Amino acid sequence: MKLTVNGIEQEIFSPPLTPLLHVLRDELDVTSPKAGCQQGGCGTCTVLIDGEPRRSCLTAVAAVDGSEITTLEGLGEPEQLSPVQAAFHERYAAQCGFCTPGMVVAATALIERKGGPVERDEVLEALGGHYCRCTGYVKIVDAVMAASRGQTGAREDEPETGEEAPVMIPGSPA
Ligand code: FES
Ligand code: FES
Repeated sequence: MKLTVNGIEQEIFSPPLTPLLHVLRDELDVTSPKAGCQQGGCGTCTVLIDGEPRRSCLTAVAAVDGSEITTLEGLGEPEQLSPVQAAFHERYAAQCGFCTPGMVVAATALIERKGGPVERDEVLEALGGHYCRCTGYVKIVDAVMAASRGQTGAREDEPETGEEAPVMIPGSPA
């Protein structure tokens, strides 16, 4: 079997019924998809399969042989975050971070599908079934809406260039 994972073609040696989640994490060391419920109910294992968000815990690898898989690692670089990644970072939409990869991947698919600004109810629908144990839903939805509007980068509440940055207390204020 073969998969193209984040643009790199990979030969897969796991048994055909192995969940894609475990192929990614255990065979390929792609660890952003998280093993949450492993029953399709929490969304934290979500990846893009040929551009569509899917639960990798419920997907046998043989069923997606030849597909293109995109995970959080394939969306941006540490120095060049994708719009959704940047919005999550800037708007404190990640707390423990466990749900974040699935949320970001699903939100990215929503924005690409819409091709323009997404509204709150659209975000709620697209992220329905994605559970955040830290309950940071308000900031997550705000971040997705901001990303869809290109509202990433310097924010109004950030100091002007040349001003001293405020002292930050470690940890999320969310
Ligand atoms: S781990 Fe796949 S939906 Fe929960
Ligand atoms: S940020 Fe902790 S589960 Fe969502």
